[in-house]
Amino acid sequence: MADILITGANGQLGTELRHLLDEKGIAYDAFDSKGMDITDAQAVADRFAEVQPKIVFHCAAFTAVDAAEDEQKDLNWTVNEDGTKNVAEAAKKAGATLVYISTDYVFDGTNEGEYAVDAATNPKNEYGKAKLAGEKLVSSIMDKYYIIRTSWVFGQYGKNFVYTMLRLAKSHDKLTVVADQVGRPTWTRTLAEFMLYAVQNKVPYGYYQLSNDGHCSWYEFASEILKDQPVDVQPVTSEQYPQKAYRPRHSIMSLDKVKGTGFNVITWQEALQNFLNEVN
Ligand SMILES: NC(=O)c1ccc[n+]([C@@H]2O[C@H](COP(=O)([O-])OP(=O)(O)OC[C@H]3O[C@@H](n4cnc5c(N)ncnc54)[C@H](OP(=O)(O)O)[C@@H]3O)[C@@H](O)[C@H]2O)c1
Repeated sequence: MADILITGANGQLGTELRHLLDEKGIAYDAFDSKGMDITDAQAVADRFAEVQPKIVFHCAAFTAVDAAEDEQKDLNWTVNEDGTKNVAEAAKKAGATLVYISTDYVFDGTNEGEYAVDAATNPKNEYGKAKLAGEKLVSSIMDKYYIIRTSWVFGQYGKNFVYTMLRLAKSHDKLTVVADQVGRPTWTRTLAEFMLYAVQNKVPYGYYQLSNDGHCSWYEFASEILKDQPVDVQPVTSEQYPQKAYRPRHSIMSLDKVKGTGFNVITWQEALQNFLNEVN
C-alpha cells in the first residue's frame, strides 16, 4: 500500500489502527502530539515533507467534550479546527487521500429517526461545532477525502464508557445511568477496519457514518456491559445527571452508505462481546 501517515497515534483510535496495520503487515509512520503537534503548521509541513504520505489517517483531536465548553474552549478550536486545517493543507500538498474522523455531535439529536449522511447539521456544543468546522475545512481544501462520522467510541486502548462502567462496578452495588439519550456505540476495531477498507477498496470519496449496528440508550449499554457483574444498574434522566456540554438525545446516524460499500457492520452487542473477550 501507499505510504501511510497517522496523526494522534497514541489515542484510542490511533492505537487501534496501528495494531490493525501491524497485524496486516502494512507499514506506516505514526505521530503522537509530541512527534507532530498538529497545531504547529511548520511541524506538520516538516513531517509531511519527510514522509510524503499518500494516505493520511487523521486520528488526532481534542476530545474532552465538557472542558471544551469553558476552560479548554480555545484548545478545542485550535486542535479541531486549526490543526485539521494544517493537516488538510499538508495532505493536499502531498497529493494524499485524507481520512478525517468526525462525530454525531455535528447533529442536535432532536430528530426521531436516523440521520442520513447528508442531513442538516446543527451542533449544540463547542466540540461538535469545532469538529464540524474541521469537516468543512477538509471538504473545501481536499478533493480526495473521507469524512467518517462516528459515535460512542470504545476500545481497548483508552478511556471510554465501557472501562468506566467496569471500574465503577468494582466499588459500587448500584449504578445509575442515563436512559433518555439514545445512540450507536462504536468499537474502535470496527472503525479502524472501515478506515482501511475505504482506502484499500477505493470506495467513493465523501462523507460516511460508521458505528456498530443497532442502537441503545446509555442505560441499555451499561446493562449489557455489566450483565455478568453483581451490580444493580438503574435508569435515570438527563436532568438527574447534568453535564456541562449539551448531549444529543437521539443521535442515530444512518449506516446505509457504509453498508452500500459492501463493508460488514457488526452489531454493538457483538462488538462489545468481542471487546470484552479481548480485555478479559
Ligand atoms: N471518543 C469518542 O467517543 C468519539 C466519538 C465521536 C468521534 N470521535 C472522534 O474520533 C477520533 C478519535 O478519537 P479518540 O477516541 O481516539 O480520541 P483520544 O483517545 O482522545 O485521542 C486523540 C489523540 O489526539 C491527540 N492530540 C490532541 N491534541 C493534539 C495535537 N495538538 N497534536 C497532535 N495530536 C493531538 C492526543 O494526543 P495526546 O494525548 O498526546 O494529547 C490523543 O492521543 C477523533 O477525531 C474524535 O473527535 C470520538
